[in-house]
Amino acid sequence: MENKFLVGASTAAHQVEGNNIHSDFWAMENMEFSNFDEPSLDAVDHYNRYKEDIDLLSNAGLNSYRFSIEWARIEPEQGKFNAEAINHYRDVLAYCHEKNVIPVVTLHHFSSPKWLIDLGGWKNPATADYFAAYSRKVVQELGTLLHYICTINEANMGIQIAAISERFKKQAMQQQTKNIQVGLNFDPEKMIEKMKKVAEENQVLFNNPKPAIFLSELGAEGDAIIIEAHKKAKAEIKKINPELKVGMTLSLHDIQAINGGEELADKEWKEEFGHYIEHIQEDDFIGIQNYTRSVIGPEGILPVPEDAILTQMSHEFYPQALENVLRRVHKELGIPMLVTENGIGIDDDRLRVRFINEALEGVQRCIDDGLSVLGYLHWSLLDNFEWQKGYSKTFGLIAVDRKTQTRYPKPSLKVLGQFTDKFNN
Ligand code: GCO
Repeated sequence: MENKFLVGASTAAHQVEGNNIHSDFWAMENMEFSNFDEPSLDAVDHYNRYKEDIDLLSNAGLNSYRFSIEWARIEPEQGKFNAEAINHYRDVLAYCHEKNVIPVVTLHHFSSPKWLIDLGGWKNPATADYFAAYSRKVVQELGTLLHYICTINEANMGIQIAAISERFKKQAMQQQTKNIQVGLNFDPEKMIEKMKKVAEENQVLFNNPKPAIFLSELGAEGDAIIIEAHKKAKAEIKKINPELKVGMTLSLHDIQAINGGEELADKEWKEEFGHYIEHIQEDDFIGIQNYTRSVIGPEGILPVPEDAILTQMSHEFYPQALENVLRRVHKELGIPMLVTENGIGIDDDRLRVRFINEALEGVQRCIDDGLSVLGYLHWSLLDNFEWQKGYSKTFGLIAVDRKTQTRYPKPSLKVLGQFTDKFNN
């Protein structure tokens, strides 16, 4: 089983399960001044319908399923582990094995227990120990059913958010000056008022006007804690079973430079990837999560080319990015790579089919050149809750009518399934 090339699809607990009531996201979605377009509610009820979903995946020929275990369910109160939740994930794992589907399990996929955030969240150094204790519990309980473990999903997100927010702040300041110059109506007071209300509500909810959730401007401080959390969790897992394959996942753009942009592009790549190398070079694998490219010129990231196809996230449709990222990571890090996410939010499923075919042609070329690629897990198995954007984005290989929770597999699901045989003989 271990040597099979994985062809599968990914999900994350909070985005699909529903009713993740002890999590920080649930609390934030239900705030009066919430930044969320809508709350997650029942999501796509995967908590109850996981068998149907794994059946659809397996019947279409996929041989692997990546999903996450929800920390807020396992440990809804600090130090109190919930046996029912542990049994639930035991059942999910057992069902994967029954169906010959190789599970890839993520221990932290963006959402955290609310109590963790109350204690300072991802800016509190003790979070690394809390995460290690939770990881130990999961592996003690479920370790015999596990094989690939991703400790933390997109460990570099806090740094990326800090950078993006910096960019926005600069733009907003320029905007403001411009508006004042041309005499347009611009009402910073209203914006400040809303921010004030959010801060007040956060203070009540989290004891903090700016709670350090995982998806916030964590910057270097949070980054160091996340790396520490990964290392400590890995050490705990290896103590219990050194055979388990452990890695973290990173969100990686295919960073390209045009003339004059080389220096900025190098800086960007170092922040997004390079500075992790020393911390992860002993890991069993790295999870690669790629969606598109960033093209950088002397002034920074360039707008998407005018003739490009845009996804719902306003990303450029650019399936070639994955091959470029795999080659670069291989060159600089050299450990086995598992594509843990790659995909597009788009209505037209024919474009998803094209994306999958082209991305996987790139993976095939990498393998032909001797790169160690363990598998390709598409984002996502199901249309799901895209965080603050709610249910408006459709990344799934399977559509869901959330009124009836009926599943409608898209043609792309079968297309992906056909690659299982192609890669395994
Ligand atoms: C991520 C997350 C997913 C997203 C996906 C689409 O990597 O950002 O793992 O939760 O839904 O990337 O934006």
